[in-house]
Amino acid sequence: MDLTHRPRRLRQDRVRGLVSETSLEPADLIAPVFVDATADERVPIESMPGHERVPIDDSVARVEEVLETGVEAVMLFGIPESKDSEGSRAWAEDGVIQEALRRITSETDAYVITDVCLCEYTDHGHCGPLEEELRAEEEVVESDGPTCEPTLTVDNDATLEALEKISTSHARAGADMIAPSGMMDGMVGAIRDALDRDGFEHVPIMSYAVKYESAFYGPFRDAADGAPAFGNRRHYQMDPANAREALREARLDAEQGADVMMVKPALPYLDIVSAVRREFDRPVAAYNVSGEYAMLQAAAEKGWLELDDVALESLLSIKRAGADLILTYFAEDVAEHLAADRRR
Ligand code: PBG
Repeated sequence: MDLTHRPRRLRQDRVRGLVSETSLEPADLIAPVFVDATADERVPIESMPGHERVPIDDSVARVEEVLETGVEAVMLFGIPESKDSEGSRAWAEDGVIQEALRRITSETDAYVITDVCLCEYTDHGHCGPLEEELRAEEEVVESDGPTCEPTLTVDNDATLEALEKISTSHARAGADMIAPSGMMDGMVGAIRDALDRDGFEHVPIMSYAVKYESAFYGPFRDAADGAPAFGNRRHYQMDPANAREALREARLDAEQGADVMMVKPALPYLDIVSAVRREFDRPVAAYNVSGEYAMLQAAAEKGWLELDDVALESLLSIKRAGADLILTYFAEDVAEHLAADRRR
């Protein structure tokens, strides 16, 4: 028996840290924060234990809570006071995010990123204004069968104009970074041009470059009230079956000037995180989404998993796969856990 190689030598307590390949720091994490213009007080989000929608008046206090844990960055999501077919409250100067941004950026040191999308602002819940889908000639031919409803889809180019208005209004209100999440073709280029035109060439874009049409967003759609009223998002978000297409999406966003590229969700797509890491020379973000959070919470509630441990292991795995930064609902808990570990 040849036992020259005994990997266990390096698994002893005092050396394990020295040879550890991956580290996780509070500074790697971004905490999502939900600001609700319809709320007078904090409303717990049932499917995401520990998270709440906070009124605009409470947004500064909420961000201060995040900062106290050692996490330095937040991602803001807004629930507007009203919705319409265009999502016009998304770019209103007195909109929920714009109001919250002015307060948070003047009163705290947080690095504030805003999610730029229309699904929380449109009454139909899709990520942009709708148009009838152009269908192949033969499908439109009269048939004797039941007549089909025309298929509606998001109007890509009209959405780009809205995204430009939203992004510049966020930048004017103080956003440190803009994160478009709608998976529209050309969104990064359009937003880059608009920001530069308005004098915000210093504001980076973190693109949701590779965003899959995922069932793991369920709890978020309750939290942000952004579920599509009909259909699904398959016309614009990516097919979970595709990996080569992910690199193409990432390449297009890189060419259009994305400063940071995100893969979303995280855990079921670690192969994609790792491929984007290898192929590109910019920071890679991964979004550990609401469903990834909810399933661990639910199992822990049943006593089946140890929450702190599985949360930490999940985030470490996402970093090991190649993410530089992680958006996660575990940000505060894990940051506190890491700080406590350090004190021990
Ligand atoms: C908006 C947006 C969504 C998420 C982030 N931004 C919802 C969606 O695309 O349906 C999901 C985040 C999560 O599940 O934690 N487009």
